[in-house]
Amino acid sequence: MEESWVDGLDDTKVTLALIAGLLGLLYWYSISAFSQLQKMGIRHPKPTPFIGNVLLFQKGFWEGSSQILKKFGPISGYYLGRRPMVLLSDPEAVKQVLQKDFFNFTNRMKMNLATKPMSDSLLCLRDEHWKRVRSVLTPSFSAARMKEMCPLINQGCDVLLSNLQKYAVSGEPCNVQRCYACFTMDIVASVAFGTKVDSQKDPDHPLVQNSKKFLELFTPFKPVFLLTLAFPSIMIPIARRLPNKNRDQINSFFGKAIKEMIALRDQQPPDKRRRDFLQLMLDARTSAANISVEHFDIVNQADVAAHVRDEPRKKTTKTLNEEEILGQAFIFLIAGYETTSSLLSFTTYLLATHPECQEKLLREVDKFAENHDGADYNTVHDLPYMDMVISESLRMYPPAFRWAPLCCILYLFGTGL
Ligand code: HEM
Repeated sequence: MEESWVDGLDDTKVTLALIAGLLGLLYWYSISAFSQLQKMGIRHPKPTPFIGNVLLFQKGFWEGSSQILKKFGPISGYYLGRRPMVLLSDPEAVKQVLQKDFFNFTNRMKMNLATKPMSDSLLCLRDEHWKRVRSVLTPSFSAARMKEMCPLINQGCDVLLSNLQKYAVSGEPCNVQRCYACFTMDIVASVAFGTKVDSQKDPDHPLVQNSKKFLELFTPFKPVFLLTLAFPSIMIPIARRLPNKNRDQINSFFGKAIKEMIALRDQQPPDKRRRDFLQLMLDARTSAANISVEHFDIVNQADVAAHVRDEPRKKTTKTLNEEEILGQAFIFLIAGYETTSSLLSFTTYLLATHPECQEKLLREVDKFAENHDGADYNTVHDLPYMDMVISESLRMYPPAFRWAPLCCILYLFGTGL
């Protein structure tokens, strides 16, 4: 009888053929996502199978993005794992996305591993949930509300000045970045968590310790971060289930602290409550002053009041629950801590290296002190040169240089489609 071709193959050959087939499939999977940018005519560095261009960002997003833009032009791209990303540094293109076509880009890139309370913060919320929380929160950032918080911020400034005074008197060098980090931490503790601390003198304070541990959770480019980017559908469910004692302890510390603080505030008579961000959010539980999406840019209380007056009064159900309040308190840690301390450090560096600007600024501040009792949210506008110095420092060393919105539809550049 004629021998079939299968009979001619031994087991080893079949196994080898299967392995080769599987390897081929795996290789196809590892590169299958990497044609999307090319199809859109967007130039990009050659991606590595599975992980895309992640290795370019080992020193952070600034270095990697700058290299790509330099080599591939102001509209270029890269792959974050299998995900295509478009880099825009052309002012006209940026304007088009941020203004004209903004409605296509309202959500940020998903932070897949974010857990509560961070996932409840405005920075992680999406769509209608984001709109609701943002509309409750916007009045808390109005000029009048910010002015109420000024005395607390000034208290933090006094602590910073007294800590710096020691170095000014002794002439010893000081790590100014560390001083600003402590200052910013004190302000976050004070306005967002209702707790007064001097983290330079009391670095072991539980709130300071837990805040630092929380911020360390976001050190990027840990191997698990890399793996999560490369294999999101496998790694995210696993990472979510893996026990993370450190993270759970931090979350339970903040959860308990904020619950106790809310209970305490609710027992206090209104005039005895601290006027901090936490209290503004608690007040928002019963306030009717919600701001609609079209007016999110309003920061002046007079405008807010006028706007609220003009709109037909709707019965409001928009308030924040305890978990959402904790989530928003975390904004100060996530969005306010590192950004503000970096800005202050770089501004100090620039002033130290440009003594003529330092002299000019000093003259303006001295003149300001002659005419005002102290700085607050309104009087600070009488420091135009200070404004220029801060703006220039933000331009030269932007602490938040990258904005990663997610495109919600297939967006064809230049067409608005
Ligand atoms: C120098 C200091 C700061 C810089 C350079 C900065 C920069 C930015 C940038 C670029 C964004 C847009 C990012 C994005 O949408 O993905 C943003 C959003 C945001 N920042 Fe800041 N920020 C600073 C300080 C603060 C502080 C002190 C707070 C504290 C409340 C804060 C709260 C927020 C919030 C809540 C958002 C999101 C707004 C929303 O989703 O509607 N930022 N910031």
